[in-house]
Amino acid sequence: MATIKYGLEIKFGTQYGKEEEEAILRVIRNNAPTSGDECICFENNYAEYSGVKHARLVSNGSSALFLAMIGIGIRPGDRVLTTPVTWIATAAAPATLGAEVDFVDIDLETYNIDASQIEAHITSNTKALLPVHLYGQPCEMDEIVSMANKHNLLVVEDAAHAIGAEYKGKKVGSFGAAGCFSFHEQKNISTLGEGGIVVTNDDGIFETVSLYRSHCTRVHGHSTKYCKLDEEKFPVGKKFWWQDFDDCGYNFRMTDIQAAVGIEQLKKVDTLNQKRILNAAYLTEGLKGVAGLTLPKVKPYNKHVFHLYPVMIDTKEFGMNKEDFIYSMLNKYGIKVGFHYIPLHYSTAFKNRGFKKGQFPNAEKLGENLVTLPINPRQTEEALAYMVKSIKNLQT
Ligand SMILES: Cc1ncc(COP(=O)(O)O)c(C=O)c1O
Repeated sequence: MATIKYGLEIKFGTQYGKEEEEAILRVIRNNAPTSGDECICFENNYAEYSGVKHARLVSNGSSALFLAMIGIGIRPGDRVLTTPVTWIATAAAPATLGAEVDFVDIDLETYNIDASQIEAHITSNTKALLPVHLYGQPCEMDEIVSMANKHNLLVVEDAAHAIGAEYKGKKVGSFGAAGCFSFHEQKNISTLGEGGIVVTNDDGIFETVSLYRSHCTRVHGHSTKYCKLDEEKFPVGKKFWWQDFDDCGYNFRMTDIQAAVGIEQLKKVDTLNQKRILNAAYLTEGLKGVAGLTLPKVKPYNKHVFHLYPVMIDTKEFGMNKEDFIYSMLNKYGIKVGFHYIPLHYSTAFKNRGFKKGQFPNAEKLGENLVTLPINPRQTEEALAYMVKSIKNLQT
């Protein structure tokens, strides 16, 4: 593999500074507990930032989605509709609870779920819609929420790519029953490589998510700190605490050291997103007019936070297919271009659930032709200029 130039790869996105270093030291000096006061502080800040009532930190975005599905009561036999163009964690959350997942094709302008096609997929078992704000651009939330209201469905937003993104001036994650975010190392902010959060305005969903995050125990003092003690089971002032479990759950907690870093990252998220937006604008300016490339379009009412910069390649017009583009960019120019995603109905997991090639033509077109360019906030103008030049050189 060629040496990566200017760190031009998607993985190179995290940006930590002195503030995060100091936060880590502070928590280490406090014995680095599992979920404690730092988590509570980050949760409060995140809820305020997102304009929601509650936020609960978890181990990653996948567990956020899983817990949100439990929170809204997804059970075997329920049906959940989502996009085939996403990371498997989105569809795996309902599927691992025994629900049936159905996909709805995407809109080729935004690459998000095509809201106008949702209704045709709704059956009497459909319980929830699970839109994904792909690459950082919000979905058509007015249409999605009104469709959900019409058919009595719940909406859970997968906002893993879209921390800080807004639809018509309102933060993503706050439109439906719950919103799920990821703080994985490649996301717009990170909590030391892994992390996630569920946000909701619903007290019941919040309590369920909080319980299932930590073994469904209501015992205080065991790092759960999620709700008031059950006064009947644990009378205040009693010497001994009894332990009880409402159900069997797992441990999906975040640690305080990660949350302390998250607190600092959240202070920087708007600045980091702004750099992504500027980087995207630079690429759009630099690549406009290149034959055979379709550059991202941002809906005028959206704040798109450019987790990724998607480019659709027309093989005939550009003179090269997606695979050759990725291979040449890496081997000739040392730029690691991504492909997000191969549609999920191509995967063994969903072929085994009865899906077939040909069912979702727009998603398939994306899978065959779309590449994602690294535009994270660490990229300098020099690096972006080099990337633009390299792409243009591919054609000569
Ligand atoms: C759209 C989407 N949803 C969910 C996830 C899961 O997040 P995590 O990796 O934090 O589990 C990802 C991760 O890449 C993602 O891209």
